[in-house]
Amino acid sequence: MNTGTPTPVILDVDTGVDDACALLLAALHPGIDLRGVTCVGGNAPLREVVANTLTVLDTCGREDVPVAAGAAVPLLEPYADARHVHGHDGMGDLDWHKSARRPDQRHAVELLRDLLVEAAEPVTLVPLAPLTNIALLLRTYPEAARGLARVVFMGGGAQAGNATASAEFNVFHDPEAAAVVLDACAELEVPVTMYGLDVFYGPRVSRAQVRDHLVDPGPAGLAARLIDFQCERFGSPDATIGDAGAVCAVLDPDGLSTTRLPVRVELAGTWSRGRTVVDLRDWDGDLAHDPHGQAPAVLDVALGVDGERYADLWWRTVSGSA
Ligand code: RIB
Ligand code: CA
Repeated sequence: MNTGTPTPVILDVDTGVDDACALLLAALHPGIDLRGVTCVGGNAPLREVVANTLTVLDTCGREDVPVAAGAAVPLLEPYADARHVHGHDGMGDLDWHKSARRPDQRHAVELLRDLLVEAAEPVTLVPLAPLTNIALLLRTYPEAARGLARVVFMGGGAQAGNATASAEFNVFHDPEAAAVVLDACAELEVPVTMYGLDVFYGPRVSRAQVRDHLVDPGPAGLAARLIDFQCERFGSPDATIGDAGAVCAVLDPDGLSTTRLPVRVELAGTWSRGRTVVDLRDWDGDLAHDPHGQAPAVLDVALGVDGERYADLWWRTVSGSA
């Protein structure tokens, strides 16, 4: 667990039930210096994503954190939301008190550029959504990458998909953006951690654990309602904290086991478009004869997580029992 000075962090979100869980942790934990949040269309349309993001930050008393709207649709792929998972409003249809605030006037890409260029020390960028904003940033203002310490993104998976049998939702939603981000980070020498489906479902909180907080008016109540919504929707006694696990990985990297592996994004496959092709081979002889050669992007791919440790970190922080 990092116990030094707070880590400067920017989140990119498509809030989203589990994005909301991540926002709660990032806004409340003293180890995170939350510099800004950018929004992209994904789980829900951009308008709902911005409204949900402002609502979560208001609930945490973090009206100081700038929020900007970014891309509403993917670079090439037709837009398709995930409201069958996250509810019509994108955040569990909880009737939670909505923020009356308006977002920052800047486009997300401009806010990202300004925050990174102005940063006195390198910032950890945590994309938890389709990577459209990040691709646009890195191709429009590559010099902003000098302000990046690392990208820790929730997306992809070495073994399986969820949006399709092959592809994870964030990458499937905008495969071109994901491919651009991996290539740009390789070219700009930005370290990347891939927090994918191999670990995404590990950190889980039970319905019983949150029951006593369901009527709380503040962050604990919202956190409890988000977990309760997922348990109800999936008919399960517990629910993943999802995107919040990537924020846990920033706070407590020792809770995650990663391996440096080459990764490509499949753009052309009929049944595999959007798949993160993680090269798990451990013999150079095969690579030497591989016509594709090694992928330029070599990431720290998360293949194991201490789920209990991260679930406990999240719940202790958001319920105020830390
Ligand atoms: O596949 C899971 C990802 O897709 C999460 O970021 C979730 O919020 C959705 O955006
Ligand atoms: Ca998300």
